[in-house]
Amino acid sequence: MTSTSIWMDVHIMPNTESLVGETECDVAVIGSGIAGISTAYELCKRGKSVIVIDRGRIAGGMTSRTSAHLAPLCDDLVSEMVSIKGLEATTLFCDSHAAAVDRIEEIQKNENIDCDFRRLDGYLFQGRGMPADIIEKELGAVREVGAPVDRLMGVPFSGCESRQVLRYPRQAAFHPLKYLAGVTKACQKNGATFLANSPVEEVGEKDGTVTVKTARGVIRAKYAVVATNSSISDRFAIHTKTAPYRTYVMAFEIERGALPDALYWDTEDPYHYVRLQPGPGQTDFVLVGGEDHKSATADDADTRFGKLETWARDLIPALGKETHRWSGQVLETVDYAGFIGRDPGGSNIYVAMGDSGQGLTHGVMGAMLNTGLILGEDHPWKDLYAPGRIPLKAAKNFVAENTTAIKSFAEYVASGEIGSLGELKPGHGAIVRRGLEKIAAYRDSSGGLHLNSASCSHVGCHLHFNSFETCWDCPCHGSMFDVDGCPINAPAIGPLGEVKE
Ligand SMILES: Cc1cc2nc3c(=O)[nH]c(=O)nc-3n(C[C@H](O)[C@H](O)[C@H](O)COP(=O)(O)OP(=O)(O)OC[C@H]3O[C@@H](n4cnc5c(N)ncnc54)[C@H](O)[C@@H]3O)c2cc1C
Ligand code: FES
Repeated sequence: MTSTSIWMDVHIMPNTESLVGETECDVAVIGSGIAGISTAYELCKRGKSVIVIDRGRIAGGMTSRTSAHLAPLCDDLVSEMVSIKGLEATTLFCDSHAAAVDRIEEIQKNENIDCDFRRLDGYLFQGRGMPADIIEKELGAVREVGAPVDRLMGVPFSGCESRQVLRYPRQAAFHPLKYLAGVTKACQKNGATFLANSPVEEVGEKDGTVTVKTARGVIRAKYAVVATNSSISDRFAIHTKTAPYRTYVMAFEIERGALPDALYWDTEDPYHYVRLQPGPGQTDFVLVGGEDHKSATADDADTRFGKLETWARDLIPALGKETHRWSGQVLETVDYAGFIGRDPGGSNIYVAMGDSGQGLTHGVMGAMLNTGLILGEDHPWKDLYAPGRIPLKAAKNFVAENTTAIKSFAEYVASGEIGSLGELKPGHGAIVRRGLEKIAAYRDSSGGLHLNSASCSHVGCHLHFNSFETCWDCPCHGSMFDVDGCPINAPAIGPLGEVKE
């Protein structure tokens, strides 16, 4: 089965034009995922002229690969965040994500967006073989931050009747692309312009004007908001404080009513989750996900999907046939909070990145915060998410994540994964050494070779092939490239270096 998410059949603005020539606006928003579209919405509702520009199709990035839980509590555990950021900052974090869920609820209501939005309970349950004290510790931390929580015994899964459980009321779920289709329409009604298939090559700033350049045009604006998932405007400073993780999701059919509509997570590491999505007739979809790993450190998607399915079928015997499987990437930050606000290197350029597993609420909350800052307002969340902050208490995580880059550069002296290009089978990719050069080689199903440098065009980390997604993943800061070397995920802007056959 190829990688396709349950949301991807919703095409938002399929006939969007691309940028040609020169144009102007108050704010140029780069990236049309949930962060970019939400930013456009907040700004144009407050009277700003906005252009949203994307490298590919509208909302075709990580937002189309999400699992779409709207869960405001820190998904790396509230107790863990309190230990790094303290009680006050963690409380602010949870409040800000809860405000994002409220905002989504309000927008879908005000704009009449039919997107399956609903409030429901979330259950964190003791994973198989996991100690109960994780639940105990988490209960204490969640109570301390003032979020509603109850302690229960058991979730409605087979064999989980006596597991320790925390119930979080007023979580939510929705269909993210149906939601964004509605928000996009509302933006257009308020004068915003959307441009697709326009990779931004440069974001610059001079004399109070920001310029956003593509190969065929330029936008001049008073401000830019870089919402490219991993920032393209900051070359290194923020990137050293984040790390990309690949994560997997499967969808299965289930008879409506066989499982209560709720969000479920376990405490295993890596964790698993389950949620429902309304389907046609009397059928719903069960989304099952997890099995995360650091990007480009494993190429075993089939094994991970196999583990997810076994885990899910053991717990939910009513699970029907598989309908979709896909993977995507999230950016974990060293102190669990994202980076939102003025780019450390600019004065009129703002960023929103470091989504973690809560990138949807992060995107909506980032839109609220960046809009406030652009309009000159003070904001209580400003310092928590400040892109230039130095998270001293997270020094251990900072060092751990940055050894990835050191290990990656060390790979250039290792031999290739195969001895010669002749060994490469159709549909496979591998690293080949030729003299001092490392080549990212892919052979397509007709036998054609696609050769590129194995050095990431961002800052040069060593790439690895991802067989399931048929792309090259960078372990360092989130870039991904197609087999012809074109970037498909930021922060990379340029293509991979060319290599002659
Ligand atoms: C499998 C999975 C499950 C997840 N589950 C959840 C969940 O349950 N709850 C939750 O809150 N979050 C979840 N997340 C995280 C969340 O989905 C993402 O963090 C969020 O959608 C990211 O939104 P974004 O707008 O920042 O990025 P994107 O959606 O990736 O948008 C960025 C856009 O920028 C564009 N772009 C990049 N470079 C350029 C350039 N040079 N020029 C022009 N455009 C450019 C891209 O084409 C893209 O469209 C999950 C993520 C994954 C992968
Ligand atoms: S993403 Fe930074 S080096 Fe590849």
